[in-house]
Amino acid sequence: MDKSRKRILVTGGAGFIGSNFILYWLKKYPNDKIINLDSLTYAGNLENLRLIERNLNYSFVKGNICDLDIVEKSMQGVDTVVHFAAESHVDRSIKKPSDFILTNVVGTQILLDAALRNDVKRFHHISTDEVYGSLELRDTNKFNERTNYNPRSPYSASKAGSDHLVKAYYETYGLPITISNCSNNFGPYQFPEKMIPLAITNVIEDKKVPVYGDGLYVRDWLYVEDHCRAIDLILQKGKVGETYCIGGLTDDINNLTVARKILKILGKDENMLEFVKDRPGHDRKYAIDWSKIKSELGWGPLHSFDEWLEKTVEWYRNNERWWKRLKTKEFQKYYEELYGDLD
Ligand code: NAD
Ligand code: TYD
Repeated sequence: MDKSRKRILVTGGAGFIGSNFILYWLKKYPNDKIINLDSLTYAGNLENLRLIERNLNYSFVKGNICDLDIVEKSMQGVDTVVHFAAESHVDRSIKKPSDFILTNVVGTQILLDAALRNDVKRFHHISTDEVYGSLELRDTNKFNERTNYNPRSPYSASKAGSDHLVKAYYETYGLPITISNCSNNFGPYQFPEKMIPLAITNVIEDKKVPVYGDGLYVRDWLYVEDHCRAIDLILQKGKVGETYCIGGLTDDINNLTVARKILKILGKDENMLEFVKDRPGHDRKYAIDWSKIKSELGWGPLHSFDEWLEKTVEWYRNNERWWKRLKTKEFQKYYEELYGDLD
């Protein structure tokens, strides 16, 4: 076999970032092989991969990362694992933490064991800046690779648990790992439960945009393709055992501002905003310092927030069929439980 060709196991490749990553990778490295292991939860959608589903270098395995047999079979002959599979929505983690512990913690440990047994050359773990906790609005510090962990939601606690396991497998067994902790992504194929796609699709449907609490919560926003480029660089040039923080080009932008920008792009006024009950334990602010990946690997975001928010809105406008199917009865039930009878 040609050693320069990678054989990559992507977990969670039918989700938002995983599917963007597979499309990115096969376009840039058409000779590499990708195996996508995904259990197709509510968040997994094979339509995201329609463009490459017939590509001979792509294969799909429907399976759970907690299933030892399927994981073992999928890992055979693989040299690189890129681990995206997770329960990823904070609000759902508040309602049902157990799913998050199973997939994010137990599932990661099962993958790590299989990676060791199969002598995988790189296990890259996708994580989040949410493991570092919450900053005060007036705080000018940013999270970096040395920030202490302080997760505050069941989601971030489960991701923190998985990060610790990945590091432990490096220290204890010498598994060649890398980790990236990334800020909030946005872009095509994001499930319309997360803030940006929910706001865009609600406005297109002439429904109100729910704004939690006072709306002054701050997130760092990164266009999903910039995230994929960062993972690419870490796989090619990253140092084994290291963590890399990844963030976008936004400066302390709060949710109200993001929602107003979306309304402006879609030509709607502020009546479409509705302040709703706050999320319990809501992290006030995330800010991330990505100077390490910039200085060591030469990465920086290429996509500015305003420009790519417009393009993202355009994508949701042009792909109504994709997201309308996802706002199904089951989603309606989840939505009504969370937001009451918001129009
Ligand atoms: P997503 O919810 O859109 O997709 C998750 C995918 O994982 C789905 O396809 C789902 O079917 C699959 N999956 C879930 N449980 C599984 C299991 N037990 N076995 C196999 N497959 C399973 O998530 P996303 O937004 O694409 O996030 C991907 C990764 O990136 C996650 O690890 C998340 O923690 C991390 N992350 C996300 C963001 C963000 O803004 N979305 C930011 C930083 C880090
Ligand atoms: P979200 O997309 O759920 O990502 P995360 O909680 O992982 O950062 O939420 C982004 C921000 O937007 C967060 O502060 C919660 C807020 N939010 C709303 O104000 N309204 C909404 O309907 C949603 C889903 C989120």
